[in-house]
Amino acid sequence: MRVIIKDNSVDCSTWVAGYIAYSIKKAKPTAKKPFVLGLPTGSTPLGVYKELIKLYQNKKISFEHVVTFNMDEYIGLSPDDKNSYHYFMHENFFNYINISPKNIHILNGLTKDYAKECEDYENAIKAYGGIDLMLGGIGSDGHIAFNEPFSSFTSRTRIKTLAPSTIKDNSRFFDNDITKVPSQALTIGIGTIMDAKEVIIMATGENKAEAIRSTIEEPINHKCPASILQMHRYGIIICDEEAVKKLSSPTIQYFKDIENRI
Ligand code: PGA
Repeated sequence: MRVIIKDNSVDCSTWVAGYIAYSIKKAKPTAKKPFVLGLPTGSTPLGVYKELIKLYQNKKISFEHVVTFNMDEYIGLSPDDKNSYHYFMHENFFNYINISPKNIHILNGLTKDYAKECEDYENAIKAYGGIDLMLGGIGSDGHIAFNEPFSSFTSRTRIKTLAPSTIKDNSRFFDNDITKVPSQALTIGIGTIMDAKEVIIMATGENKAEAIRSTIEEPINHKCPASILQMHRYGIIICDEEAVKKLSSPTIQYFKDIENRI
């Protein structure tokens, strides 16, 4: 597992956007063999989307042959609800780049048949040959996508009930009213994430410090779903200084030394 520690969230976003652009270009995607990108919502990736839009506007990257799969979507919110992840993705990213609408995949939170929606999503990912690069954030409880603590490490796309801590964290988007936050979501599973060829988890801010400590310094444990990253062959965790505040000094020094020598 590679751990990259940057001074601040802007530097994290710049690095991640650059890495995504580099990975897409390296793959030389075509209509027949597109680059498959897994994407998150939330506050953490906003800077990455801004930076990718800039790279597109400066003609440094094209999304013509990029296919995306979002990690999750709330149950019960329509795509035009401003709190839906459909809305978030279009407002913050897709409306500003040259991605084809047919290449965008987001779970349908209004479906009447959750099992079929989730199975179809897994099959669609498989049909593209899997996810090349999965970008994700981390919850203050260690969740990745909406895989809350104690989720199975082999879980696939399914319906999940959100943990009280997640509902509280996300209530900032819902007038700080926890009763307005949907209590369930459709989410890709931990198994789905682990099948991606590469995974990048981003963490910025002090409220992620305990989750990052548990992910990096504790043994793999399903109380902290992100700790499964320890088992990924190509897993990267990128943090700002705030998010590593609870790591021990030797751990921080170890990862900084390695990065300085790359
Ligand atoms: P955040 O969410 O980026 O809004 O902090 C991250 C997550 O819950 O995975």
